[in-house]
Amino acid sequence: MEQTVKIILDGRTYEFPIIEGTEGERAIDIRNLRKETGLITLDPSYPNTGSCKSSITFMDGERGILRYRGIPIEQLAEQSSFTETAYLLINGELPTRQELNRFSVMLNDHSLVHEDMRHFFENFPRRAHPMGILSSMVNALRAFYPELQERTEEEEIDITFTRLLSKVRTMAAMSYKISLGHRVVYPRYDLTYCANFLNMMFDSPVRPYVIDPDLVQALNVFWILHADHEQNCSTAAVRLVGSARVNLYAAISAGICALWGPLHGGANQAVVEMLMEIQAAGGELEPFLARAKDRDDPFRLMGFGHRVYKTYDPRAKIMKRTAHRVLAKQKRRDPLLEIALRLEEVALTDPYFVEHNLYPNVDFYSGIVLRAMGIPLNMFPVMFAIGRLPGWISQWKESVDDPGWRVHRPRQIYVGQGKRDYVPLEQRG
Ligand code: SDX
Repeated sequence: MEQTVKIILDGRTYEFPIIEGTEGERAIDIRNLRKETGLITLDPSYPNTGSCKSSITFMDGERGILRYRGIPIEQLAEQSSFTETAYLLINGELPTRQELNRFSVMLNDHSLVHEDMRHFFENFPRRAHPMGILSSMVNALRAFYPELQERTEEEEIDITFTRLLSKVRTMAAMSYKISLGHRVVYPRYDLTYCANFLNMMFDSPVRPYVIDPDLVQALNVFWILHADHEQNCSTAAVRLVGSARVNLYAAISAGICALWGPLHGGANQAVVEMLMEIQAAGGELEPFLARAKDRDDPFRLMGFGHRVYKTYDPRAKIMKRTAHRVLAKQKRRDPLLEIALRLEEVALTDPYFVEHNLYPNVDFYSGIVLRAMGIPLNMFPVMFAIGRLPGWISQWKESVDDPGWRVHRPRQIYVGQGKRDYVPLEQRG
């Protein structure tokens, strides 16, 4: 028996169906609300609004659960690789050995960037933020790789996805090398996806980069943890822009721009900047906690809080463990990790953070892992973007494949001026 909700308005009763998801989450299906009642709903920043049904990622914010295509993030982080997880998100199933090998070969086949694109990189100001460069260059990919005519729809889509996954990684490393005025390092056929990235970032003619398997493993885990997160801000941007039937590159470019924000993917950079500020101020936490709790102060404790998780972000637990593991293998200490650990300990016992359900999120420890790899601070959001690519691609594909696909167009409640006449210039004050 279908469950419904009733709205009684002006003496009339309207009924709307309740739909239930795989894990028991429920929603009122209001797609006919305005047609039947003349009403719309109002939900600024959408905390109560579902934009779609999706089969890709399940999150439970109260229990701290995250699963990609039903597989818990903890198992994927422990046993999978980033390329295998990307395949799972995009195709819905873990690949067979043959499918994984074919995917890896395609990633390598499409890892080069058109040589003419280098002129774009070389002409950005050296101080340009890598996220601005990345979103521009992803958009530019469309010009260099127009719709492939001679391939089948399926084959063309697969190549487009693989091209994007592979080239974005190459472009990120290329942008870094060019920003230093160093020679660009090309991808190598004999290296895995993550090892190739580290090699392209850090190999040099004077000091060949020695690939550290611990850092390669840490990068796999880092990118697995970032690979998707249901309808977050940047994924919602990809779906919304994509709903106008733009090409994938344009939709992904919009997602990169949304992710750049310090409240979203830019937080990993902001966390380290905050920890460095605390370190420079002598390590005293109290002033920063006081500012975070002051409603008149826009300062937020970066890396803390989440729209969905009202408990510890399951990714943060794994990222924290990875940070400890990498530094231990390197026999190094990072003073910023020690500040972060103290900050977490104090915040989690502070009534303000407890009452507001504020816990570390994925960004709180991720910067420590990136620092251990030698990634420059302003590339931290780019690292998030590369990781999130499979999620954006799979969400875009799911919306494109939806037979009910319509352009996204929210409504509003107008609260401006009532009707009034134009006043000629000479009659104005
Ligand atoms: C990501 O959505 C996703 O899935 C995102 C993401 C993904 O994988 O795609 O998980 C990645 O973006 C993680 C979040 C990274 N951002 C940060 O770490 C920035 C710091 N965090 C906050 O800005 C905030 O917690 C947000 C943006 C993450 C969530 O914001 P909400 O849900 O809109 O919460 P809010 O701003 O409405 O705050 C609710 C209350 C407020 O206090 P009151 O006015 O109700 O008294 O909590 C307070 C806020 O002041 N609060 C914080 C805080 N976060 C919320 N106070 C101090 N420090 C914080 N970090």
